[in-house]
Amino acid sequence: MTETTLVKALSVPEAIATRRSIRKYTDQAVPQQDLETILQLAGLAPSAWNIQPWRFAVVTNPEVKARLKAAAYGQGQVESAPVVLVAYSDMQHALANLDDVLHPGIPAEQREGSIQGILGAFAGQSTEEQEAWGAGQTYIAVGYLSLAARSLGYDTSLMLGFNPEQVKEILGLPAHVRIPALIPLGVAAEEGFPHFRYETSQIAQFVN
Ligand SMILES: Cc1cc2nc3c(=O)[nH]c(=O)nc-3n(C[C@H](O)[C@H](O)[C@H](O)COP(=O)(O)O)c2cc1C
Repeated sequence: MTETTLVKALSVPEAIATRRSIRKYTDQAVPQQDLETILQLAGLAPSAWNIQPWRFAVVTNPEVKARLKAAAYGQGQVESAPVVLVAYSDMQHALANLDDVLHPGIPAEQREGSIQGILGAFAGQSTEEQEAWGAGQTYIAVGYLSLAARSLGYDTSLMLGFNPEQVKEILGLPAHVRIPALIPLGVAAEEGFPHFRYETSQIAQFVN
């Protein structure tokens, strides 16, 4: 794991407590090393069968960001942030490459059976259903990513307000992929809104 160039990393509770959606960013660039650390941490998220269907397009080109902003109904955070990550799931690629994600500890004679078992679980699903499942897994990595960024002193804003077909066209992504989030990322130029959440008692029941 490489050291961040910005700050001493925040703890997980500190990162969770201080993360807010940020829609205005300074023009401070995010070093490549920090981006790679954030993506590496996001990639440590868990997924069913370890399928890891998440993929990320990392956009810093101002012209591409301007086009993404237009695809996001003009939302200013897309152009304000120095980096926009586009998180998408690609189950077609993941299912075609299951040997890559099977744990090396699984013995050779069991690997083909494991792969066929996983493929069988998805066999009756349409492409849309498979990608909807993949998008659910991808959100886990997106959550990790937003906290990893905060921990290293950066801020993000998760966004679902965009036209996915336009985003695919801008980035040249295959038609079948699903995009759970655009994620502007950078150094905050505003505080964001204080957290306003349900009480724990409203979202959890302790079942004895
Ligand atoms: C999946 C997802 C999609 C979102 N889409 C947008 C969006 O398109 N535009 C926006 O301004 N905020 C968007 N938000 C931010 C939410 O409004 C925000 O997370 C929520 O109000 C809680 O505020 P906080 O993130 O500052 O704690 C999105 C958040 C999530 C998790």
